[in-house]
Amino acid sequence: MRIGTPLTDHATRVMLLGSGELGKEVAIELQRLGAEVIAVDRYPNAPAMQVAHRSHVIPMTDAQVLNGVILAEAPHIIVPEIEAIATDVLAAIEAAGIARVIPTARATQLTMNREGIRRLAAEELGLPTSPYAFAVSAEELAAGAEAVGFPCFVKPVMSSSGKGQSYVEGPEGVADAWTYAESSGRVAGGCVIVEGRIDFDYEITLLTVRSATVDGEIRTDFCAPIGHRQQKGDYVESWQPQAMSPAALKSAQEIARKVTDALGGLGVFGVELFVKGDEVWFSEVSPRPHDTGLVTLATQVMSEFALHARAILGLPVDVTLREPGASAVIYGGMEAEGVVFEGVAEALSVPTADLRLFGKPEAFERRRMGVALARGADTDQARARATEAAGKVRVVKP
Ligand SMILES: Nc1ncnc2c1ncn2[C@@H]1O[C@H](COP(=O)(O)OP(=O)(O)O)[C@@H](O)[C@H]1O
Ligand SMILES: [Mg+2]
Repeated sequence: MRIGTPLTDHATRVMLLGSGELGKEVAIELQRLGAEVIAVDRYPNAPAMQVAHRSHVIPMTDAQVLNGVILAEAPHIIVPEIEAIATDVLAAIEAAGIARVIPTARATQLTMNREGIRRLAAEELGLPTSPYAFAVSAEELAAGAEAVGFPCFVKPVMSSSGKGQSYVEGPEGVADAWTYAESSGRVAGGCVIVEGRIDFDYEITLLTVRSATVDGEIRTDFCAPIGHRQQKGDYVESWQPQAMSPAALKSAQEIARKVTDALGGLGVFGVELFVKGDEVWFSEVSPRPHDTGLVTLATQVMSEFALHARAILGLPVDVTLREPGASAVIYGGMEAEGVVFEGVAEALSVPTADLRLFGKPEAFERRRMGVALARGADTDQARARATEAAGKVRVVKP
């Protein structure tokens, strides 16, 4: 593996498709290793653009525009950070040998749609999942909900961070769930998945890293499990390690290995799993660092972002956990441009506390604007500290 000098003909060029807070940390790690970083997103001054060599503002779902930017920049490696990308373009670029797509173009295609990854996991790999059905009309949804049973979750197949998702307790809630999913799915003419609820004790993200050894062999490593709490389908708090029975941990790793082997390529995967006692269900997987994994900035020898940067460059990784820690999300809490953060010094006076303020140009009520991190003797102490620190940061109008 050779790395060139940025901004020369021999640079190792990496293009990020999606330039949010996760991409920003990946960009910083790539910069540290001497890569040339090109950040792309649909709005200017996105977080990763602020730490990249260059940036482009384009609609990433527009195949022609996306293809044009890729050909013009000629990156060696393309790193998708979000799901809403014209993934057919990535498949063509990969097939033509123009660039490597992380982890693979097929993985980005399968995971951009809940149907692709669910059918792969449940029907091809035989992994345990919630009961599910797909529907393209209100009538089909009603039938699907009856089949999987109540309570259930209804989600647009193309959506993330809880957008368009409903929790439905009985038949009377189905019509509203359909309307809501239709109105907020990213792509019109919606298809939804309805999933029976898994009555789990806790849910985890198992960060799974596929990397190359110096001998060129692919190996799989698992980070310590991350526990998290979701509100309206969006994560509000995460901690690491999540205590698990040895049997549950073994099943979780087996599931993660199967699904990441099937997706292939190099990089970090966030495998989402539900756990009850020793039983484990596959929920979904991100073929990239996971938002709940922000906690690894405080806990691991190498954060998930450093792991991703190393793995995609073909370099070895170290998934060692250093100490227990937690993350707590700081929301916008209002709609405003160019917000100001107050209480930063107070937040950082909480023992072990650290902050990431993402620098997003615009705040919304439920937009993640930053995260507080903390360590502790155990995850309870770390969670209390991270939550306290997050609570001291006030987002205000300029
Ligand atoms: N079938 C289910 N059973 C129990 N909880 C679920 C189920 N589906 C979703 N959830 C809850 O909703 C959260 C978000 O759902 P998820 O499918 O991960 O959507 P997203 O892609 O938006 O993250 C999950 O982390 C979990 O807390
Ligand atoms: Mg999820």
